Amino acid sequence: MNKQLGMEVRQAVADDAAAIKKILDIYAVRQIVLERSEDDIRSYIKNFVVAEIDGVCQGCCAARDFGNNLLEVRSLAVNPDLIGYGIGKKMINFIIDRLKNERPQFRLFALTMRPDFFQKNGFRIVETAMFPEKIWSDCAKCPKKDCCDEVAVLMEYGF
Ligand SMILES: CC(C)(COP(=O)(O)OP(=O)(O)OC[C@H]1O[C@@H](n2cnc3c(N)ncnc32)[C@H](O)[C@@H]1OP(=O)(O)O)[C@@H](O)C(=O)NCCC(=O)NCCS
Repeated sequence: MNKQLGMEVRQAVADDAAAIKKILDIYAVRQIVLERSEDDIRSYIKNFVVAEIDGVCQGCCAARDFGNNLLEVRSLAVNPDLIGYGIGKKMINFIIDRLKNERPQFRLFALTMRPDFFQKNGFRIVETAMFPEKIWSDCAKCPKKDCCDEVAVLMEYGF
């Protein structure tokens, strides 16, 4: 069965917050993504896109804007039953296409344990030290801050 059939990626709305939290929690307990409260997700809902199949949210991804055309991909997760069906790729491409329409240039980065996924989607591996903004915000509260196993990946557009 082609599970991409009927898949739609769209801007998230406040009512998606609970479904987004449910997907993130699956990976947050394994420390693969940062845990986020439903209130936090709702406050930053404008940053999120969701992938929906038959009206059910099966994936989420956020782009956090640090200003100066520097953004971070974060809270990227797909329902574990639907891994490998192109949902992650479609969400990343949705975010990238939207940024390309909105801005003449941008840098989009991520700290990830899945650099392979990002490399397949136009990112390259870079030095983590390139991103002090990230290190001073989320990393400070990450349980793995003293034993970080994440790789920094970057996509540059228009430079
Ligand atoms: C990472 C994640 C979001 C990818 O989403 P996905 O829907 O499974 O990925 P896709 O099906 O869109 O795959 C896109 C590409 O990556 C490749 N890919 C997917 N999983 C892969 C894997 N484990 N190893 C290597 N490549 C992989 C696919 O082959 C595909 O390449 P193609 O376009 O050449 O066919 C998803 O696996 C996930 O939720 N993982 C757990 C949470 C996580 O690691 N989040 C990232 C934290 S930054």
